[in-house]
Amino acid sequence: MADPAPHPHDLARQARQHLESLKAAGIESLPKAQSPVTPRRERSEGSATSASTLFGDSEPTAIVAAMAVPPVDDRRRELAVLADQVRPCQRCSELVAARTQTVFGVGPVDAELCVIGEAPGGDEDRLGEPFVGAAGQLLNRILAACGMAREEVYICNILKCRPPANRTPRPDEAANCREYLDRQLALVRPKFICCLGGTAAQNLLGTTAPLGKLRGRFHNYNGIPVMCTYHPAFLLPHRQPEKKKDVWDDMKMLLARMGKPIPTPQGRPG
Ligand code: URA
Repeated sequence: MADPAPHPHDLARQARQHLESLKAAGIESLPKAQSPVTPRRERSEGSATSASTLFGDSEPTAIVAAMAVPPVDDRRRELAVLADQVRPCQRCSELVAARTQTVFGVGPVDAELCVIGEAPGGDEDRLGEPFVGAAGQLLNRILAACGMAREEVYICNILKCRPPANRTPRPDEAANCREYLDRQLALVRPKFICCLGGTAAQNLLGTTAPLGKLRGRFHNYNGIPVMCTYHPAFLLPHRQPEKKKDVWDDMKMLLARMGKPIPTPQGRPG
């Protein structure tokens, strides 16, 4: 059977999300529609008018054009170009002096879920890929317990460089790197985001609230639902492994929102 027509609210949400992604990518205006459109005053309330109310002066054809998602190959190419721009970045002198290399991100450009961590650690700095150390192994197990392979998720960090001695990223460093993260997310266009740890959550969402207050409910980044949960490094045996239960609760909420099956308790990450 054919899919039902999308609900107008879904279309409006998708359009808003796409426009916000374009804005995050630095595109501030759209061309006005060239083709004739029904004059605004002739449109009935609740039809196209509701969309133009949302988007101010953008005419419906411009909205439709804005909703045309660039092909995956173009987005993959642009992501590679962005990674090339990030590689020689000199914005944070202390990080530049200490890093082996930048750690951009990994995963499919059309991933449904993007996982965002804090910053590369020693293993990541050496190998050039996020979450490849002990915390990464646990992240892989959490994803597997959720029925997802690491390879189907886009994984990146707030910072693209390792802070010396793995210290917490400074606000000025996160601000310097923010453009890269926003552009990355505008290209990947994930349907869902999961922030790991307080630093990732606070930086993405622009809040100082502690993770304990942010986890367990959805937040919003440019129209994308965001779940925040504990960082896997915090769950390692020498830290607070008892918090795994909270992470599992958060992941179940995320899976439900994604429309994915909730695995049985036996499948929980060990
Ligand atoms: N911790 C993070 O936040 N990111 C990584 O890539 C590795 C460890």
